[in-house]
This record gives sequence, C-alpha cells and structure tokens, in this order.
Amino acid sequence: MDKKIYIETYGCQMNVVDSEVIFSIMRKEGYERTTSMDDADIILANTCSVRDNAEQRIWGRLEVFRKQKESRPEAIIGIVGCMAERLKDKLIETGKVDLVAGPDSYRTIPDMIKEITPEKPGINVLLSREETYADIVPVRTDKNGVSAFISIMRGCNNVCSYCVVPYTRGAERSRDPETILAEAKDVFSRGYKEVTLLGQNVDSYHWKSEDKDVDFPDLLDAVASIDPSLRVRFATNHPKDISDKLIMTMAAHKNICDHIHLPVQSGSDRMLEKMRRRYTREWYMERVRKIREILPGCGITTDVIAGFCSETEEDHQATLSIFKEAAFDYAYMFCYSERPGTLAARHYPDDVPQDVKTRRLNEIIELQNQLSLESNLRDVGKTFEVLVEGPSKRNPEELCGRTGSDKMCVFPGLGHKAGDYVQVKIGSCTSATLLGQIVE
Ligand code: SAH
Ligand code: SF4
Ligand code: F3S
Repeated sequence: MDKKIYIETYGCQMNVVDSEVIFSIMRKEGYERTTSMDDADIILANTCSVRDNAEQRIWGRLEVFRKQKESRPEAIIGIVGCMAERLKDKLIETGKVDLVAGPDSYRTIPDMIKEITPEKPGINVLLSREETYADIVPVRTDKNGVSAFISIMRGCNNVCSYCVVPYTRGAERSRDPETILAEAKDVFSRGYKEVTLLGQNVDSYHWKSEDKDVDFPDLLDAVASIDPSLRVRFATNHPKDISDKLIMTMAAHKNICDHIHLPVQSGSDRMLEKMRRRYTREWYMERVRKIREILPGCGITTDVIAGFCSETEEDHQATLSIFKEAAFDYAYMFCYSERPGTLAARHYPDDVPQDVKTRRLNEIIELQNQLSLESNLRDVGKTFEVLVEGPSKRNPEELCGRTGSDKMCVFPGLGHKAGDYVQVKIGSCTSATLLGQIVE
C-alpha cells in the first residue's frame, strides 16, 4: 500500500506551487497525495510569516495535527515554508513537530523523513542562492484543470522595512527561461488554458547565461507566443521597477491578461520612504497613468498597509486620496503587523495603537468597496471574454469565470464547461462580481 502525504497550504500563491513541488518530490519516494489528514503518514503545514495572525493560525492548526498523533504516533507532523525558516529550532523546541523544512530545503525532505525518530526530529532551514526547483514538475493541485501557477523566480532582494519575506525566502534568483517555457507548454498540452507567472517582484526577473539574456518582458513574450488560446497572467509587479517595455509587451499580445497587481502600500511619501519602497506617490501615479494610457481597461489592483510606524492622520488621508486617484479595481488591505528582525522592528516603534490601525483599515476598506462598485458599474453594458472556471459557488446552476482584467463574472451556462472561452455581456453587478449573459 502506498504511503500518503497531506499538506495544508497558507500564505501566497508561491506556497501553492511549493506544496505542489513537495508533492512531486514525495511522489518519487512512493508517497501519494491525500486531501484528508486522517489517513496521512505525513502531515505538513506549508506556512506564512508575513503577519502575526498568519502565524497564530498555524499554531492553532498544530494542535489539530497533534490530535492525529495521539491515535497514530507514527505519523510525522511537519512545518515547512516561511514560518519554518523564521522560527527554525524554536519550532522543534515546542516538542510538537517532527520535521522543520525551510523553502529551499524541500529536496532533502525524503532523507530527513528516513532519519526521523520520536527522539530525533529533522530540521533543514538552509537558504540557497541557486535553488529554483527548475527541474521539478509540480503535481498540480488546482481543482478545475484550467489555471496553473508557474514559479519563475524565488526570494526577494528588496528590503522593504516592514517585510519578513527576504529573511524567510532568501536572496532573489531567477529560473532558467527554458524550463519555464517547457512547463507552460506542458500544462497547455494537458488542457490548461491559463498560466500565472509568479515572483515577489517579477519586474526584476533576469536570466543571463552565455547565449541568453532574458528579462521579464522577453519571458512574457515567449510564454504568450506558445498559443493565442493560452491566457497569461503574472504577479507581483513592483512600482519602482515596472517598465514601459512590459506595458508594451502586454499591449502586443491579446492573450496577456490586462491586469496588473501593483502594491502601493501607502499614499504618503513620508511613509513610503520609511517603508523603503523606493518610489514616491508621484512616481506611482505616473506608472498608473501610463498603464491606463497604453492599456485602457487594464485592471489595477493593489496592497496597502494601515498604521505603519508613526503614521499620522495626514499620512492616512494621503492613502485614502491615492486610492481615489488611482481608482483601484480591487485591493488587499492589512493592518501593520511588526515582524521580528525586520528593519522596521529594529528601528521604528510600532506606535500606532491597534484601535487606530483598525479604524484606518476600515476606512480604506469602505472606500475600496465603493471604488470596486464604481469600477464594476463602468463595465455594465460591455462584453468581455471570460474563461469558464466551473459552477458558481453561490448558485451551482450558473457558471463563473474571470475577465482578462481579473474580475469575477457569474452567468447562466449554455452547456459550457470549465476551460471554455465565452463572450459575456454584463447586465448588472455587485462590488465583488459582474453578472451577465453569454452572447455569441
Ligand atoms: N512582493 C510583494 C508582496 C509581498 S507580501 C510586494 O512587493 O508588494 C504581500 C503583502 O503583504 C504586501 O504587499 C504588504 O501589503 C503586506 N505585508 C507585508 N508585510 C507586512 C507587515 N509586516 N504587516 C502588514 N502587512 C504586510
Ligand atoms: Fe517584501 Fe518588499 Fe520583497 Fe515585496 S518587494 S516581498 S514587500 S521586501
Ligand atoms: Fe507568506 Fe512567505 Fe508568501 S511569508 S506571503 S508565504 S513568501
């Protein structure tokens, strides 16, 4: 009988790919993927450290995993990913885990597993300058076989002062473009219709070898040229690095989706400086205007942090005003969470009281809901190409899928299925969803 491995994945899309890489590595060792922890020989949490509440959730899950161990002491419980990297042997010291593996050590999990005993847990948190898992074909875990994530680089060389990622993921390195293209071609040949190229800062993707010099727009151009019916997405862009060449490349290919995720973090220059984002509000808005000029209809989404160190009411108002000025289509919005070891934790007091952070966050959320609604209202009456993802969650009688600009659409199907492209005319909307009908 095959042994089984179960992974719960938290954090960003990169962790989704990393879990798929671990499944692939373990499959070679005879471990089959299971979606129930009850029959798993190995139970892993692939973790995130980006905010404290992300880590608190994992501590909670660890208690649930421990219950499994009571009835099946031979089961291996492990923490992998960013929290493993951040806390290292502190996780072992809790006595609650058998395995701790950082993001660059997944190839060593099989060997660690062989050596683990109840007295001797396994740990590897070495970061690498080269590891990109380029040769590993991930075991896809998406539900519908339509959309696949492809990791094009790892790590991050920016030192945004609030951010733990450079410490948990190590230095930035790009993956050989040949292996990226091969992976994209492979998923397309297996029926996938959409690939999303992933990196913490895709704009700094750069591969240089004797015969090749490939930047992100070159890579995007090559992936988009595989087939016009393969949609191409990517994330995340950095406002300081997003180039005209990229915007032009997007304009040159119909199948590169018109959506850019461009985290702003704050609308105040004083905060941006303190966050070490290396752009100003004016720079950011110039990039937004350029995108809207070359790619009218392009979705622009963002991330923002409320209540960063020393943020005043005036700084907060600047964030609200840049939201209005940029008219974001969607935003991921967070309260600042101090991460030990970061520049901000070492140099600036976390001095905005929690109730003020929460109030400011709620004001941003309220504004963004309004902006999302206005953005969706502008689409009513228009017709979009939508890639069907499957039945709508709310109403299984209807289908759902996304526009190129990354908006969720719900509409009655006409015998269509996941993976089909349909033209949908939008009749109405909420702040979260476009509602429409298929037109031929
Ligand atoms: N590489 C991407 C995003 C990485 S983390 C970028 O450069 O934007 C995703 C988001 O989490 C960030 O954009 C930021 O908004 C948020 N984030 C990161 N560290 C945080 C912290 N300490 N507290 C609150 N939010 C944080
Ligand atoms: Fe973190 Fe900044 Fe790197 Fe994004 S670019 S992962 S926010 S350090
Ligand atoms: Fe979290 Fe690590 Fe991603 S900290 S956001 S899982 S890179």
